Amino acid sequence: MLEQLNQIEQDALQAIRAAQDETTIEQWRVAYLGRSAPLMQIFDKLGALPKEERPAVGRRANEVKRALEGAFSERADSLRQASLVHSLTAERLDVTLPGRSFPIGRLHPLTQTLREMYHIFAEMGFQVFRSREVETDEYNFQLLNMPEDHPARDMWDTFYTLTPGVLLRTHTSPGQIHVMYAYAPEPIRVILPGVVYRYEQVSARKDTQFTQVEGIAVGRSITFGDLKGTLIDFARRMFGQDVRTRFRPSYFPFTEPSAEMDIECFLCGRKGCGVCKGSGWLEILGSGMVHPVVLQNGGYDPEQFSGFAFGMGVERIAMLCYKIEDIRYFWANDLRFLEQF
Ligand code: DAH
Repeated sequence: MLEQLNQIEQDALQAIRAAQDETTIEQWRVAYLGRSAPLMQIFDKLGALPKEERPAVGRRANEVKRALEGAFSERADSLRQASLVHSLTAERLDVTLPGRSFPIGRLHPLTQTLREMYHIFAEMGFQVFRSREVETDEYNFQLLNMPEDHPARDMWDTFYTLTPGVLLRTHTSPGQIHVMYAYAPEPIRVILPGVVYRYEQVSARKDTQFTQVEGIAVGRSITFGDLKGTLIDFARRMFGQDVRTRFRPSYFPFTEPSAEMDIECFLCGRKGCGVCKGSGWLEILGSGMVHPVVLQNGGYDPEQFSGFAFGMGVERIAMLCYKIEDIRYFWANDLRFLEQF
């Protein structure tokens, strides 16, 4: 029986070295220390042994049992330790790694310019009014004092639709009539931003689609001085407090008198360069006092009301602000361009 105990001890200690995980070590425990393990059966049989053999076998059996229990808890500990180390390394976070950057989008340079303009005009009391892009000949021309066959229509190369009398607006000015209809006879002070279309030869300076901001103020005692004050203030806020401006007489059928505003060329400081074509000045908008016929078409009595209006190209202004040399970049959707803003 002592032989048998030696054998059990030897087998058990050898087997436990092969146990690599918690399942096999539990199976080992059942096999060697469980109720029906051979070692336990020896304890059961102790009573049946001859008296002389009993103490020696009993002592040895207890020794083996302690040895196996010790081996079990040692092995279990080291397996638990190993699995802890494993999970710590497998799930390790390197907190010194640089974070991943998620690129976020940005506003189109035209949107940025437009928002700046809304902000400036809002501070001067102008609200934003939106008007349609597909217009009628009536609104785009006739109500703006350009009857059919009026020669001034040649100032706008027009895209016509197949429907007679329906066209893509060539400027935001027809919005003036819409907003006057909507508010007459209340005083108004609005800007009308939006896309306009012209049948142009595309070049670095001209595209068939571009953006304008129109403005109109109508009231009982609005003067040319209000026009100048508003637009000079706008130019200063948009281009810098020191910017110099000048007004030149001009002609538009829907204003009388009409004027264009220039700002000094900040590329050459008025010395004359390629951008200002040697003149030292850059034209940025058309303007004038709303023509009495147009006021009347909008529902205002020109004897009692007067107003000023203006219209400017937003791409043009963005090109000046950001020194962009080709208008086609705005609609090309080239990320190398867009990501600079
Ligand atoms: N509609 C004109 C254009 O597109 C610009 C313009 C000039 C608008 C004078 C106005 C204005 O409101 O008063 O060329």
